[in-house]
Amino acid sequence: MKKIFLTGITGLVGSAFVVALLRERKDYEIICLARKSPVKSAEQRTEEIIRDECAFDGCPEVADEILRSVKVIEGDVTTIVPEKLAEHPLLAGTDIIFHCAADVNLGKDPTGKTYRINFNGTENMVKLAQLLKVKEFHYVGTAYIAGRLIGTAYENKPVDNGFNNPYEESKFKAEMLVRASGIPFTVYRPAIITGRRSDGRIRKPLAFYRVLEFLGKVKSHRCSKLGLNPTDWINMHINFATVPSEHVYFVPIDYVQEAITALFQQPVSNQAYHVTGDSPISTREIEDTICGILRLDGVTVDPNEKAPDMDNKLMGRFLGDLYPYFSSDIIFDQSNVRKVLGDGILDWEYGSKGLEILIRSFYKDYFPNVEWLQTLANTPIERQPNRHP
Ligand SMILES: NC(=O)c1ccc[n+]([C@@H]2O[C@H](COP(=O)([O-])OP(=O)(O)OC[C@H]3O[C@@H](n4cnc5c(N)ncnc54)[C@H](OP(=O)(O)O)[C@@H]3O)[C@@H](O)[C@H]2O)c1
Repeated sequence: MKKIFLTGITGLVGSAFVVALLRERKDYEIICLARKSPVKSAEQRTEEIIRDECAFDGCPEVADEILRSVKVIEGDVTTIVPEKLAEHPLLAGTDIIFHCAADVNLGKDPTGKTYRINFNGTENMVKLAQLLKVKEFHYVGTAYIAGRLIGTAYENKPVDNGFNNPYEESKFKAEMLVRASGIPFTVYRPAIITGRRSDGRIRKPLAFYRVLEFLGKVKSHRCSKLGLNPTDWINMHINFATVPSEHVYFVPIDYVQEAITALFQQPVSNQAYHVTGDSPISTREIEDTICGILRLDGVTVDPNEKAPDMDNKLMGRFLGDLYPYFSSDIIFDQSNVRKVLGDGILDWEYGSKGLEILIRSFYKDYFPNVEWLQTLANTPIERQPNRHP
C-alpha cells in the first residue's frame, strides 16, 4: 500500500483526481488536508464532495469504497506547522505528497491572501515533504505561469516573463520552490478548465463561467428595463476591451482528470506537463457562440475602446481579470505529454460544437429556474450575431 498526503480534495481538480485514481488503483491510501466550513467538518465536506464527484463521473456506487481509502486531517496550508504535522500518526510512512490546493482568484490580492495560500502554502508543504522524507512531490501548477509570454511556452523551462496577476506570480514562485526542493517531482500545469467532452458539464464552474453568468444577467436586466422579451435578439453595445486571440486554451475537466491520473502513475523524473490539450480556440469563436446562444448583437472585442459607458465599466470591473486569458498569445508545447502518454491522448478538440455544448450545459445546470435561459439553452442557434453595435 502506498500512502499519499494530498491537499485540495474539495476542489475541482483534487476530487476528480482522487476518484479516478482510486477507481483504477486499490494500492493507494489517501490522507488529505481539508478545511472545515462554518457549518460542516472537514470530514463531512470531503465525504460530500467525493460522493458528488462519483455521481458526476457516473459511478455513485463506488463512493463508499473510495471513502474507505480516504482519511482526513483538518487544516489549512497557510497555518499548518510542518514540524508538528510531520508527527501526526496518520502521516507515518507517507510516500508521496500531492499538492493541489490553491487560491484560484485571478484578481488583485490586496490582503496578500492568494500569495499566502499559493506560495507560503507550498513552502509549508515542501517543508513537510522534506521532514517526512517522501519519495515524490506532485504539484498542480498552472500553464499560465508563462504570464505575459508571446510565443511558445516549454514544459521544462519555466521562465519569468512578467505576470498578469498575483495568482500567476505566486504559482510561478511556488513551482520554483518545488523544483528546488531536492525531492523528485512531477508538475501538472492545466490551462482554463471547462466542461467535459461528452456533455459539456462541470461540477464546479470557475473563471470563464463568470463571463456566461455576467452576459446572461446583463441581458436580463436590459430587457426588463426596455420591456423586451429576453428570448429575442437585442443589441448589447458591449465591448471586451482586450485584443482577441487565436489561442484560448480551454481544457475539458475529464481530459485533466485522465491526463493527471495517467501521468501520476508514470515514474517520477522531475518533469512538468502542460495539461492544456493542443487545440486552443479563438476569442472570436467563443464570443460568436455565446452571442448566438444568448441572442446578443453588438458584442465586440476591441482594445481601443473610447469612452466606455457604465455597463462597459462594470464589465471591466467584474471580468477584467479574465481579459489576459482571452488575449493570450501563448502556445503550450506538448513534448513531454506526447512523449509519455502518446499522441492519441491529444486527439480531441472542442471546436464551436463542443463550445456550444458546454455553454448550453452551464445554463441548463446552473440556472434551472430562469425560464428564458432554459428556452435559449435548448434552442438551436439560428444565425450569427451581428458584431457591430
Ligand atoms: N480551475 C482551473 O481552471 C485551473 C487552471 C489551471 C490550474 N489550476 C490549478 O489546479 C489546482 C486545483 O484548483 P481547482 O481548479 O481544483 O480549484 P478549486 O476548485 O477552487 O479548489 C481549490 C482547492 O484548494 C483548497 N484550498 C484553498 N485554500 C486552501 C488553504 N488555505 N488550505 C487548504 N486548502 C485550501 C480548496 O479547499 P476549500 O474547498 O476549503 O476552499 C480546494 O480544495 C490549483 O493548484 C490551481 O492553481 C486550476
